[in-house]
Amino acid sequence: MNTQELEQAYELAVYPRRDIVLVRGRGARLIDENGREYIDCAANVGVSNIGHGNQAVARAVHDQYLTLGNCYSMFYNPVRAKLAEKLASIAPGNLNRVFFCNSGAEANEAAIKFARSSTGRQEIIAAMRGFHGKTMGALAATWGPKYQKPFAPLMPGLKHVPYNNLAKLEAAVGDNTAAVLLEVVQGEGGVRIGDSVYFQKVRQICDAKGVLLIIDEVQTGFGRTGTMFACEQFVEPDMLCLAKSLAGGIPMGAVLCNDRIKVPVKSHTSTFGGNPTACAAALASVDIIQKEGLVAKSRTLGEYFIKELGALNSSKIREVRGLGLMLGIELKEKAGPYVQKLMEKGVIVLLAGATVIRLLPPLVITKEEIDTVVQALKDTLSA
Ligand SMILES: Cc1ncc(COP(=O)(O)O)c(C=O)c1O
Repeated sequence: MNTQELEQAYELAVYPRRDIVLVRGRGARLIDENGREYIDCAANVGVSNIGHGNQAVARAVHDQYLTLGNCYSMFYNPVRAKLAEKLASIAPGNLNRVFFCNSGAEANEAAIKFARSSTGRQEIIAAMRGFHGKTMGALAATWGPKYQKPFAPLMPGLKHVPYNNLAKLEAAVGDNTAAVLLEVVQGEGGVRIGDSVYFQKVRQICDAKGVLLIIDEVQTGFGRTGTMFACEQFVEPDMLCLAKSLAGGIPMGAVLCNDRIKVPVKSHTSTFGGNPTACAAALASVDIIQKEGLVAKSRTLGEYFIKELGALNSSKIREVRGLGLMLGIELKEKAGPYVQKLMEKGVIVLLAGATVIRLLPPLVITKEEIDTVVQALKDTLSA
C-alpha cells in the first residue's frame, strides 16, 4: 500500500484530507513525495512561525534529548526554569507565572480549571464562532454544533455570547461568572479581528465584577499578528493561553498567569508538561523570533500582503482582513474549491469557515514568495 492507502486503512478518518503527501519542508516551502514544491501559507495552522527545518531548534532538541530528555516537574530543571523566566520576560503586563502543558486544548482546559479554583465560581463566558480546542472542557467553550453535537453532554457552565458585542457580554456576566474566555482575533471563526475598545470595556467589566479574563492566543501568539502577542494590541489578560508555535514545531502548550491565579498543589499536573526537550525547543524558537526580527517582519510583510490582496479586485471577494501575517479573504461563495485550485497552483492555504480563505504563512516568508501567492490568488479568483 502507498502512504495514502496506509493512512486511510489504519487511522481514524477524522481529518478532511488533501490529496498530497508532504515529505519535507524548508523555510516557507513544503515539498511533496513527487518533489513538487509549494509555498506554505498554512504553517500547520500557525505552528511553523519560524519556518520549516530550522537548524537551531533541531540542534537544541538533539542536544537536550541526549542531556536529559524528560524530567517530571516534581524535580527542578534548569532548562524549564530558563524558559519560564524567558516567557515571563516577553509576556505583557504581570503574567509572570507559567503552567506548562502540551497543546492548545490543554492550555484552555487548564485555564478554565484555574479560573474556577481562583474565583470559587463556575461559569465561563465564551464567544460565538470562538475556537478553543476539542477536548471535553475546551470543547464546551468552542462554538458550533458540528464540533459539539456528537459528543454531548458537554461540560456544564459555559455560555456563549456574540463576539465584539459589549451589551450581550455585560448582560451575561453574573455573580457565578469565573471568567470570560476570548480570542483577540478569531482564527477558525473566520479571521475576525476584535475591537480594541470592546476589549478595554471587557477588561473593565471583569475588574468591576471580580471576573478573570482569559485570552486564547494559541493561534495568534509568537509574532503572528505583528506583535509578540496579539493581546498587546487589545487588552491585558489574567491568563494567556499559548501552544502551536511556542516550541518551534515541537508539541508544547502553556498558560501564562498573573498573581490572581491560585491553584492547589497537585490539583492540575501533566506528565510531559515542561519536559526539557520541548523547553529547549521553545527557548531556541523564541530566540530565533527575537534575533531574526520576525515580529517586525510579520508587521511589515503583513501590511504589504494585505495591500496587495486589497488590490486583487475580484468580484468573488467580499472582504480582505488581517493583522500581521494572519490574513483572511472572505468570498461571496464557498472557498473550498479555491483552496484546492490554489494547491494545484503550488500554494497551500487554509479555510476558516465555509467562505474564508485563511493565510498563515511562516513569518520567514519572503516578499517574492508573497508576490507569487498573490499572483496565484489573482489567477484563481479571476478565472
Ligand atoms: C485559538 C485556538 N485555541 C485552541 C486551539 C486548539 O489547539 P490544539 O489543536 O493544539 O489542541 C486552536 C487550534 O487551532 C486554536 O486556534
